[in-house]
Amino acid sequence: MTTRTPLMAGNWKMNLDWKQSLSLVEELGEALREVDTTVVEAAVLPPFVNIRTVQTAVEAGDLPISYGAQDISAHESGAYTGEISGSMLTALGCTYVAVGHSERREYHCEGEVETNAKVKAALSVGLSPILCVGEPLEERKAGKQVEYSLAQLEGGIEGLSAEDVAKVVVAYEPVWAIGTGEVATPDDAQEVCAAIRDLVRTKHGDATADALRVLYGGSVKSSNVAELMTKEDVDGALVGGASLKAEEFAKIVGYQD
Ligand code: G3P
Repeated sequence: MTTRTPLMAGNWKMNLDWKQSLSLVEELGEALREVDTTVVEAAVLPPFVNIRTVQTAVEAGDLPISYGAQDISAHESGAYTGEISGSMLTALGCTYVAVGHSERREYHCEGEVETNAKVKAALSVGLSPILCVGEPLEERKAGKQVEYSLAQLEGGIEGLSAEDVAKVVVAYEPVWAIGTGEVATPDDAQEVCAAIRDLVRTKHGDATADALRVLYGGSVKSSNVAELMTKEDVDGALVGGASLKAEEFAKIVGYQD
């Protein structure tokens, strides 16, 4: 059981048009009335083009939902066709941005250099990066999940001060668990989440490690989240598919009730 405020973040990925996003965020706001959102934070990461819609709904309804983006440019502004800068995101009231998701690493060839640059770009404008790490199946089979995930973590936070590391959220998402229905066991999630916190403790001290939120992601549902959250170093979840249904995601946020 975590001592930090848990974060349940819904990564909508490339789903929903603006009207569907509006319906989902309004329904989620309604469903969260049943949940004590003073003890757990709910966040959504819509596609870029739907962030303004989410912002409007959250502000109009005073909904207890933080939001952010799924990617960020490493650059501040200028001739970078198709990219979205951190300051554009903060102007829309974003709190978070996912960085280094395995789908970005795989389909957009983003490695440690790009991920580290994006983490820094996020922090420079006051966004909290949700830095995703996690091993593919072959690394898990070889028993190298900790080593692999920590190498990604080290690359992602390279050159950051302790103060900045404390603002990062790390999401441990084993690739084999993403969208497969095959969730990691609570012990498997705890093993890597604890190793992540230990590395941060060694490099940046107790206060930073104790403040750091480490999420688990990969086939999280309302039926398995409570068990995962019994683990000391699991401070929340990064949720894909199950965050696209308001009732289901609200149950995940309200796992304690
Ligand atoms: O970022 C969240 C994600 O990769 C997990 O997806 O659908 O397995 O919950 P899903």
